[in-house]
Amino acid sequence: MYFIFAIMANENNTFKNIIAHCKEYGYIFPSSEIYDGLGAVYDYGQNGVELKNNIKQYWWKAMVQMHENIVGIDSAIFMHPTTWKASGHVDAFNDPLIDNKDSKKRYRADVLIEEYTEKIRGKINKEVDKAAKRFGDQFDKEQFLATNQRVLDNKKKIDAINERFKNAMEKNDLNEVRQIIIDCDIADPVSGSKNWTEVRQFNLMFSTEVGSTVDNANTIFLRPETAQGIFVNFLNVQKTGRMKIPFGIAQIGKAFRNEIIARQFIFRMREFEQMEMQFFVKPGEELKWYEYWKEHRIKWHKSLGIADNKYRFHDHIKLAHYANAACDIEFNFPMGFKELEGIHSRTDFDLKSHEEHSGKKLQYFDNETNSSYVPYVIETSIGLDRMFLAIVSNAYQEEKLDDGSERVVMKIPAPLAPTKAAILPLTKKDGLPEKAREIINQLKLDITVQYDEKDSIGKRYRRQDAIGTPYCITIDHQSLEDNTVTIRDRDTLEQKRVAINVLLEMLTSRVSMTRLLNLN
Ligand code: GAP
Repeated sequence: MYFIFAIMANENNTFKNIIAHCKEYGYIFPSSEIYDGLGAVYDYGQNGVELKNNIKQYWWKAMVQMHENIVGIDSAIFMHPTTWKASGHVDAFNDPLIDNKDSKKRYRADVLIEEYTEKIRGKINKEVDKAAKRFGDQFDKEQFLATNQRVLDNKKKIDAINERFKNAMEKNDLNEVRQIIIDCDIADPVSGSKNWTEVRQFNLMFSTEVGSTVDNANTIFLRPETAQGIFVNFLNVQKTGRMKIPFGIAQIGKAFRNEIIARQFIFRMREFEQMEMQFFVKPGEELKWYEYWKEHRIKWHKSLGIADNKYRFHDHIKLAHYANAACDIEFNFPMGFKELEGIHSRTDFDLKSHEEHSGKKLQYFDNETNSSYVPYVIETSIGLDRMFLAIVSNAYQEEKLDDGSERVVMKIPAPLAPTKAAILPLTKKDGLPEKAREIINQLKLDITVQYDEKDSIGKRYRRQDAIGTPYCITIDHQSLEDNTVTIRDRDTLEQKRVAINVLLEMLTSRVSMTRLLNLN
């Protein structure tokens, strides 16, 4: 037991260290911090914005530029209020909330139940680990999972709870949701109390008013997803772009949700950014394309070179009102495996519903069959901020070096790093700064570079490691004589002397996004 707490404490400490590091090195600041911040809202600093822009570029190039049948748009955050009636958000974008009467803490009922089933899943995993140790090379995991009685009993328990919860939500039976919590003996994770209130539905959309006077003001919503801006523009893009099915429309933009349990740093925010793509297909072909996009999106993630075992698929049991298949790509964040991206087969729900509410046809005319139909849609939807968190939490490392010293390094994939190379004159005199500036002028059009002449070279290396700069270029007295510099690799710590006139080619081959995109 002590061991488990020790691991949890360690994970919490690592997460705390990552959050503190992000602030110290200009990645992420609490919003309006001088007024003590605003819950679940964050600002990106000078390094954060560069990393964010690079992630956006990696996504946009892979999704739009590399697919001749996908185009991008940038639709407005404010949309006609009927949009959200048609999309189902006015009636169904709710979280089931429950309060603990003793601790006065508020929870999402579905999250409490999911955490409970995850605990049971943890027991199954422990059985597997124990058996694997006992049987060694002889161990057949599939057979063990299919035959071990304790595993089967626990699986049955999970299935029964999930089924009960799914039925309750489908019938909007909130008393039954509460009863599941009572029957499972779920306690408040903070206080341990089981004194629960009723379960209530809470709509997550923020509203505001447009119009200059109270009388003619109209309530509108801040969009909770970018997807609807794509659906309402489906025909505009299809006709003006002469797009043929199958084709996609992509968009990156802000979304807003009044999250009740807004915690875990930038994992769950009230203002965040999404990178979404809706792919329009012929009805009946949607599940083929669903599989295609699952495979394509996981490849995009894995091309970054992050370990494969950091990702897993999670198929949805409780499908959203618009979907006929859905899964998440989950990432192993410091707080465990959590949703990073959603891939949804949304059927023709959205376009049909917008047809009904607007009275306008949103159909595709198929020249081959000489008939019109409402296309089906596969959606890929990833939170930019979650992707950011996945990258920094994976990159952050506290290392002990061979010489006994310690460093904190952010091993961000080089093409995404905010600064690609730091240009460091060994001293502030003897013409070294001037030589350094010459090099900056040669590089700055193609790659982001940073100049730093303050402190000892060792301190400057540490500073760049902490920011995640993949290369440090040091200019010394020899540089003035033979036009060579030292290039230091952030990850291997290897140092090499190279000619200044090959620097640009050498660096671009290592930090360019092209390499990543070729792997997609
Ligand atoms: N259009 C579909 C849609 O919005 P979603 O699963 O609600 O689906 C998609 O959201 C992605 O947006 C999630 O996988 C997650 O990465 C991100 N996301 C959702 N809510 C978020 C929040 N409150 N803070 C940060 N990211 C969020």
